[in-house]
This record gives sequence, structure tokens and C-alpha cells, in this order.
Amino acid sequence: MESQYCVSLASVQKAHMVICDVVHQTPVLTNSTLDKRADRKIFLKCELFQKTGSFKIRGALNAVSSLSARRQNGEDVRAVVTHSSGNHGQALALAAQMQGIPSYVVVPRNAPACKKAAILEYGAQIVECEPSDQSRTETVSKVIMETQGILIHSNQDPLVIAGQGTIGLEILQQVPDVQAVVVPVGGGGMISGIAVAIKTQRPQVKIYAAEPENADDCYRSKQCGCLTPNASPPVTVADGVKTSIGEKTWPIIRDLVDDVFTVSEEEIKQATRLMWERAKLVIEPTAGLGVAVVLSRRFRDLPGNLHNVCVVLCGGNVDLDSLEWLPRPEVAE
Ligand SMILES: Cc1ncc(COP(=O)(O)O)c(C=O)c1O
Repeated sequence: MESQYCVSLASVQKAHMVICDVVHQTPVLTNSTLDKRADRKIFLKCELFQKTGSFKIRGALNAVSSLSARRQNGEDVRAVVTHSSGNHGQALALAAQMQGIPSYVVVPRNAPACKKAAILEYGAQIVECEPSDQSRTETVSKVIMETQGILIHSNQDPLVIAGQGTIGLEILQQVPDVQAVVVPVGGGGMISGIAVAIKTQRPQVKIYAAEPENADDCYRSKQCGCLTPNASPPVTVADGVKTSIGEKTWPIIRDLVDDVFTVSEEEIKQATRLMWERAKLVIEPTAGLGVAVVLSRRFRDLPGNLHNVCVVLCGGNVDLDSLEWLPRPEVAE
């Protein structure tokens, strides 16, 4: 079934072997308030507790480890390069630091200071670009030329997708009677890996995508049966999913994702607040997406025999500077 895709169950299982000693097997938690409001048993796969604060280290580490192996075989691997102002930038920086490979992360000059600081702290060099697609592409090409580095794409690289798929292996182990998994979608790397890992072993488990109404390219692509990227840069509080799905992830999403649920900005914010307030889980709004979906009217109207649903809480990198009452961190002398 899966050989037509860029990842297979075997490549996800291999990724698991490569990364399992370094990444956390994140816990699965439950919350009775959420269960009551969703009218189902909801299992929260807590990737907010993952290294670097999001699932992204799984894919980044799998990709960088394979380069490290090539390096040990005598290949000239000089650096890794990516463009990301968010979680992938931090994850790639840490993965590269662990493997002793220099890393360069291209970041728009107006990205939040806290994100730039985190990328620097994990050991990458930041290269600023203008906040436009054209400047980003040009800057990445220039950095690759200058450093002879290798691009690690955040959601279309097959090794990254396979690494993200390890979440699916863990869910099957931790929630053996799971009937559906809800996954936020940006470029689609995470849901593609999870879908291949789960559908190959348990085809009856539903895989549902969660998207903001304001960034609904996956929903529209599934509706029309062809890859339909967002026409303009989306405006959403769920900043991890502003990217559109791509050529590598679309065939997997087209074939293995059962349905796509979209939610409003207000629903995302309310769901995020609910997790903070009731579950004491400091998730970022992108992770609030999946919670908003299971609370939505359309999801609650799904057949009643869908009892056990797992929601991937994909990250916890909240921009604390957005909380005005909270003091800025003290700078160490
Ligand atoms: C916290 C979080 N969730 C979800 C996503 C979306 O992942 P993907 O692009 O693999 O669909 C991202 C991507 O940056 C993210 O940072």
C-alpha cells in the first residue's frame, strides 16, 4: 500500500531506532473536563514536553543523523541549512549540535526575538532575510552556496516525515484501543508520517487533520482532489500551520487522511485557554487546533461509536512576550 509514497512503515520504524535513545517518549494524558465537553474519551499526546518543546526534533534528528552517518563514511557534509522562524529551526539547531555539524537557519528579520534567541541558544547561526517568500528563497540559496550546506526541509524531506511518524508508533502502543487521531496540519509532514505509521498497521483507525479556517489549504485540496496551496499568507494565531501542504505530503494526505476539520480563530483560542486553565498544559495555539476540533459541532456530530480519540498536542513554545503582565527575563550579567 505504502510503497508509492516517500515514506513507508519500514522507514518510520528505522527512524524510531535512530532517534529513540535521544527523544522523549512523551506521555499521554487525559482530562475529564475535556472528555465531558467533547463527549468522548480524549487522549492527549503531549509533544509539548518533547525536547525543544515540539515534535520537530523527531524529524530533524532523523535527517541529521543520516547525514552524520554519511559523514562517517567519508562524505563531505559541511553544514545543514533550513528556513524556519519556528520550531523546526530550533529542532534542527539542536539536532545538528548533537551531531557536531554546523547549522544555519534563515529567519525573517521581523521574527519574534524569543524565537531567534532559542535558535541561537541551540547553537545555530541565524541568517536574517526580508519577510517575503522571494527573499527567503534567495537567502537560503545564497547560504547553501556559501556554506556548501545541505537543505533540510521542515515538512517535505522524507527523513523528516519518517521521524515525525514515530509519534504514530507511540500512539498505537500507548493507546491500544485508539479509534481516531487528530493532527494539526501545516506542510503536512507530521500527519503524513503518522498516517503511514498507523494506517499500515491499523487501517480502521481514522486519521483526521485539523486546520484553521484561515489556512485551509489541506481542506480545499481534499475537497477538490488536487493540491491547492493557500493563495496568500494566512493570518492565524496558530503560527505553526501557516505553510501549505506540498508535493511530497499531498499524495499521503489524499489517500490516507480520512477527513479535514477546520476551526475558527476564536475556537483555537478558547481551546488553548481550556488546556492552560483546566489541564495545566501550556500548549502553543497551534496545539490548541486539535482540541478545538474535538470540541467543534461537526466533530461532535460524528457517529457515537467513535469513543477513543487521540489529539496530538504538537508543541508548547508559547511567545511569553505576548503576555503583557509577565516581566521580561532578567539578563544574566
Ligand atoms: C507546533 C507545530 N505544530 C504543527 C506544525 C505543522 O507541522 P507540519 O508542517 O509537519 O504539518 C508545526 C510546524 O512548524 C508546528 O511547529
